[in-house]
Amino acid sequence: MTDIEWRDFDGVEVPTTSGEAAADEPVVDGRRVWHPRRSKLAAALVKEGFPGWRKVLYLGGGAGTGPSYVADTAEAVYAVEFARSPARRLVEVAETRQRLFPVVEDARKPEIYRSYVEKVDFLYQDVATRGQADVANANAEYLRSGSTAWITVKARSEDVTAEPEDVYDDVEEELGENYTVEGIVDLAPFYDDHAVVTATKI
Ligand SMILES: C[S@@+](CC[C@H](N)C(=O)[O-])C[C@H]1O[C@@H](n2cnc3c(N)ncnc32)[C@H](O)[C@@H]1O
Repeated sequence: MTDIEWRDFDGVEVPTTSGEAAADEPVVDGRRVWHPRRSKLAAALVKEGFPGWRKVLYLGGGAGTGPSYVADTAEAVYAVEFARSPARRLVEVAETRQRLFPVVEDARKPEIYRSYVEKVDFLYQDVATRGQADVANANAEYLRSGSTAWITVKARSEDVTAEPEDVYDDVEEELGENYTVEGIVDLAPFYDDHAVVTATKI
């Protein structure tokens, strides 16, 4: 486990980690560049700074690249991904990392992985599908009171016709069942119509 270190890359201060490459990511000073145009979590880190985490539940693990960076910097990362093709690669990436645990399940049914996913102090979500607040609410049981959640909201996944700000407001309201929303971090200029809702578990 190592800390995030910041490096200048393409004129932007970007997070870097040490660890084995998982994709074709650039390397600076022998460190993996976590590029804000390739990862929404990296974009959020560039805009918000590193919030700190020890154990992470990562919903929407994709092919494992994002989770691999988190695994470089955390004690344990549980990465949930339900689509067969990316999940296959996620499992391969996890084979090279002791702290990355793939969970090939549907994040809308968190009770399925209750027996093997422990409580965490940080929830990161990037599922990019309709019902993003529902997924975060369903998984709130994995967070202790006072823990942090960063929930990426792709506005167009909720409603292609709505103004992104209206979508973020709706998500904020829905999250109120389980979370206190601390802020809405627009991911421009790295991603259009995406924001990360930063929240604290009630
Ligand atoms: C934008 S990609 C995530 C990319 C990843 N964050 C990265 O940086 O490498 C969104 C992923 O969420 C997954 N996903 C969407 N809904 C899901 C659900 N209900 N349960 C598990 N995975 C889901 C999709 O299959 C897709 O692979």
